[in-house]
Parts: sequence; structure tokens; C-alpha cells
Amino acid sequence: MKKLILAAAAFLMTASAYADVIKVGVIGPFSGPFAIQGKNFKAGIDAYLATHGNKVGENTIEILYRDVPQPDPAQSKALAQELVVKEGVQYLTGFYFTPDAMAVTPLLEQGNVPMVIMNAATSAIVTKSPLVVRTSFTTWQTSAPMAKTARERGVEKAITVVSDYGPGVDAENAFKTTFEKEGGTVVESIRMPLSTNDFSPIMQRVRDSGAQAVFAFLPSGPTTLGFVKAYNENGLKQAGIQFLAPGDLTQESDLPAIGDAGVGILTTFHYSIAHDSPENKAFVAAAQKAIGNPAELSFPSVSAYDGMFVITKMIEATGGKQDAQKAVDAVKDLAWESPRGPVSIDPETRHITQNIYLREVAKGDDGGYYNKEIKTFEKQPDPGLAAAK
Ligand code: PHB
Repeated sequence: MKKLILAAAAFLMTASAYADVIKVGVIGPFSGPFAIQGKNFKAGIDAYLATHGNKVGENTIEILYRDVPQPDPAQSKALAQELVVKEGVQYLTGFYFTPDAMAVTPLLEQGNVPMVIMNAATSAIVTKSPLVVRTSFTTWQTSAPMAKTARERGVEKAITVVSDYGPGVDAENAFKTTFEKEGGTVVESIRMPLSTNDFSPIMQRVRDSGAQAVFAFLPSGPTTLGFVKAYNENGLKQAGIQFLAPGDLTQESDLPAIGDAGVGILTTFHYSIAHDSPENKAFVAAAQKAIGNPAELSFPSVSAYDGMFVITKMIEATGGKQDAQKAVDAVKDLAWESPRGPVSIDPETRHITQNIYLREVAKGDDGGYYNKEIKTFEKQPDPGLAAAK
């Protein structure tokens, strides 16, 4: 009899352990030109699971990856639907490109699934569903401090150049609004199609504009590298035109290819791999191990790591049961020490409040390049949300 009870108990335990696999679906660019960015999502997730384990109480986390190589809202939506309906994922995360996140927000309430955004940076996304939480940044949040910096450094006239979609339009508005409020003038604003890869004609317009500085935003990837190279190769620096941008333009994985010409470039951003804290040193060691090639490590890894932390808090709060609203409510006001510095989730907007750092591309003693933090804009919320409403 005793044996039988033990056997029954063992069976029940196995059954309940089996039932408590919590599936997390990650949508991102895992192949094609932006594959390194997706690889960084995976490195951040793997680093989190390697350092914290894949269990939350009795529940086991299982990660399912789906590849959307370039911005493709229809593909993103179809894959999210497949993950929710066929795979039964309880959480959706990842989302490198804004259009891919936007396309999925209408599915969340019906699917009873929270979305934890690990990159997509257009302010308005969080307003599209009460079930969206973001652990990355917005281009409003990262670009407004650059406008202040430019004015502090005496720039009177600037020109803006951005990719013509959500985060680019937000970056342009953030820079122009802040720069002009501080007494500067934006002499021209250029919006380029996302597919643009010949930047010489743009550099000519920048030269002709009479601006003292060019502020630029493009989504991190092969085109940001192309854009910075075009700035360097078209003699704009020699012509005395300063380069200003959020940190998407100097991601660490691009710095070797930019080379010495990049030294001194100023950017504002939420995360530098060189951030000096014990939390960041531990994170970088784990994430470098996870990614395999340390030279490929870049900013999406940290939002992914923090995104996993937020998801584990959601699983804890719901005891593993599928209750998207309860999960999201549980992380409103959550505050923790991220590898990037102190952060919290704003309960109103469900967007991350964080320090934004002014950084300068520098060359280390070992000959490697890094983003050296030189000033901190503390506890920045997203100023773009007022504009997004
Ligand atoms: C976005 O599509 O929201 C996006 C992509 C890459 C970035 C920033 C924003 O570097």
C-alpha cells in the first residue's frame, strides 16, 4: 500500500511538473543582415538562464525562437499567432523592429499574453495594449539628452537625418523639440527610406545645409555602419560638421569596422558594455560566454537579460498560471539594479525608467574600441509618451 501511494505521488509530481512548463516565444532577426542583433537577444536570455537557472518555483521556462529577418509585420503577426495558438506560449518577447511589435499588439488581450519588448523603440507601442511592457529604451529617451548636449557644447544649427519609420520619426522629433527649446535651430530634417544604403548624396545635403552638426538615427545593423563610414569618408569631420547620435550608431560590434575614424564620436544611450559596475561585469562575462564571439556583444543583450528578469517576476506573481493582466500588474513599479545601472518600470506607461549616458568612442590600452561613459542623465522616463498620445 505504502509503495502504491509513493508511486501515485511520484506520478502526480511528474504530471504537475510536466504541466508547469512555461513557454516563452521570442520573435527577432535570427538570420539575414540583422542576425547579430537577434543573436544578442539570445545571448542575453541565455546569460540570464545560465546565472539564474530555468526554474521559477515549480515551473520550468522553455524558450521558443521565431525568425523575422527584416521588418515584416505580417510575418511577425503570423508567427506570434502560431506561438500563442499552436505552441501555447504564455509570454511573447523579443521584437527588434517597431513594425513587428506593432503588428502583434492587437493579439495580446485575446490571447491573454503579455508582450515584453526587448528592443523596439517607438514611444507609442506601449499605448497600443495594456499588456505591453518594455525593457529597452525609446529613441525619444535616448535622443533628447543629445540635443541638450549639443546646445551645451555650443551647437547653434543642426540638421537631422533619420530612417523614415517610427523610431526615426520619434528621434527627429525628440532632437528638434529639445534642441529648439534650448535655443538652437534645426535647419533641415531629412527622412530616408529604411532601405537606403548609399549615403553619399545625403552627406552632400548635410554639407550644403550650413549646419554645424548632423544628428542621425538609423536602426542598428549594417546600415548604421554604412552611415558612420559615409560620414567619415565624405570629409564631413574635416569640414567641421560634428556627428551626434543615439548609441544605436556606435554599437560595440561595429566599432572595430569604424576604426580610428570613430574615436571621439559622441552618443547618448542607456547602455555601454564598458559600464563600470559589478552587476555589469558579471553580466558581460556571462553574455560573452553565451554569444561565443565576444566581439559580437551589443546592446540588445542587456534588454533581453532584463526582459527575462521581468518575465520571471511575472511567472512568480501568477504562480505559473496564465493571467496576462495579473502578470503585467505585478511588474508595474518593479525596480532593480540592471547591468546598465538602476532601472524601474513606470507603472503608468509600463516603459523602463533608466539613466541615459553621454558616451565618447575611445580606444583602450588593448587597442580595442569602447563607448566611454562621460556623463549621466539620471532616471530618465520616456518623454515621448506625451507626444505619442
Ligand atoms: C526599432 O525598429 O524600433 C528599432 C530598431 C533598431 C534600433 C532602434 C529601434 O537600433
